[in-house]
Amino acid sequence: MTVLQSSNAVLVQAAYLVASGLFVLALMWMSSPKTARRGVRAGELGMLIAVCGTLLHSGVVQYDLIFVAILLGTLIGVPMAFLMPMTAIPQRTAISHAFGAMAVGLIGAVEYGKLAPTQGAGSFTVWALMFEILLGLLTCTASVVAFAKLQEIMPTRPIMFKGQQVLNLAVFLGALACAGVMIASPANTTPFPFFVALALVFGVLLVLPIGGADMPTVIALLNSYAGLAASAMGFALGNKLLIVVGALDGTSGFILAMVMCKAMNRSFTNVLFGGFGQAAPAGSGGGEERAHRSYTAEEAAPMLEMASSVVIVPGYGMAVSQAQHRVAELYEHLEECGVEVKFAIHPVAGRMPGHMNVLLAEADVPYDKLVELEDINPELPQTDVVLVIGANDTVNPAARDDPSSAIAGMPIIEADRAKQVMIVKRSMNAGFAGIDNPIYYKDNAGMLFGDAKKVAEHLVKELQELAA
Ligand code: TAP
Repeated sequence: MTVLQSSNAVLVQAAYLVASGLFVLALMWMSSPKTARRGVRAGELGMLIAVCGTLLHSGVVQYDLIFVAILLGTLIGVPMAFLMPMTAIPQRTAISHAFGAMAVGLIGAVEYGKLAPTQGAGSFTVWALMFEILLGLLTCTASVVAFAKLQEIMPTRPIMFKGQQVLNLAVFLGALACAGVMIASPANTTPFPFFVALALVFGVLLVLPIGGADMPTVIALLNSYAGLAASAMGFALGNKLLIVVGALDGTSGFILAMVMCKAMNRSFTNVLFGGFGQAAPAGSGGGEERAHRSYTAEEAAPMLEMASSVVIVPGYGMAVSQAQHRVAELYEHLEECGVEVKFAIHPVAGRMPGHMNVLLAEADVPYDKLVELEDINPELPQTDVVLVIGANDTVNPAARDDPSSAIAGMPIIEADRAKQVMIVKRSMNAGFAGIDNPIYYKDNAGMLFGDAKKVAEHLVKELQELAA
């Protein structure tokens, strides 16, 4: 029996080691579009091995309940994965974080109930449990609010009131004080319900003042919190896999949030306390009516065909209309006509990191045709035509030219510096930041109004007719 148990323990540790290695490889591979698919597979395999390892653990007794949980999770998760549009990934991620963080918080609470009476004052286990429960519960409610804002169940604008930061600080310090009492005397569980309530309330208060425009960054940050909470759980339970994976999750979420802030020229404090997006409601054009030129697909196709270089700038609109396959066809036709075509990728185009890369990879656009912002900008003044497809804020020259703009300083793809710009969108409405875009009124610019998929289809048809 003892031999069996010890070989089981070795098997579990080996599974955890292999899973940890696969998670590290997954992160490494996912950092490049060329190896991203391999990275996803490695992550999936790592998770499968980690779950199997946990199920082999001698501490697991109620397999029937676990089976019911797996069945329920599969019944909810599989349709969600198939039915959810890619543009809704930020809110889906938020709600997944909410459930994951709730699980972390609940496990922490159960462990606290079991372990607290056995621990001495200042015990490391109770420290770890307090950290886990605080981060887990605040991440849970913060993620629910982030989900509600992104899904527009509640107002996306920042919700601010007088004395808000003082209240936030008081709630946070209250939670820390409760944790302090329980760490000093683990057998005293009286502050526990207050601790739980304050952690939950703090999560809500944390996200209320943050506007919808910053929500994807906040989600990356909440991802980081959830990871750190899981790592703390690993310390409390003595589970090495949780420590490693939680640390990986915590740091990668933090790095991602930093990359997103840099790409939007926003500081962390600005994201967390700035109330960005309050002044100008999204969807409003803002400003007075100004003259703009507009093209039909019949007019635009010959201009594209005659160009020697075309840069396509995809954005959120391409994702909404699922135009990537038609855009890929357009690219192929133009290349057949001898036009050199590249795709300019802004790091925050769309609604999630890598959004455009994923869509274009799905449509089999070669990776080497995707050029990053810093590399494409110097080429744009020599480019004959820039075709903007459903992008707006990421090509808004106000970020570069107008220091008073809400997006001042955000790096942009300088489409306006090309010889000719064509912008595909349905109206003159604003983008995510809710501000007007001066590019539409430039002498070298023209609008191609319509749904991105339909316009791309129309352009392909016109190019085919021109070639016939
Ligand atoms: P946006 O500025 O959001 O503009 C998208 C444009 O697409 C809109 O102006 C809209 O104009 C058009 N559009 C919508 N549906 C369309 C359709 N079916 N066909 C054609 N056009 C359509 O997009 P962007 O340039 O990609 O910028 C992304 C924004 O999200 C930035 O402000 C960025 O800071 C923010 N953000 C992104 C991330 C990440 S990680 N990607 C994270 C945080 C924030 P019409 O309504 O007139 O069609």
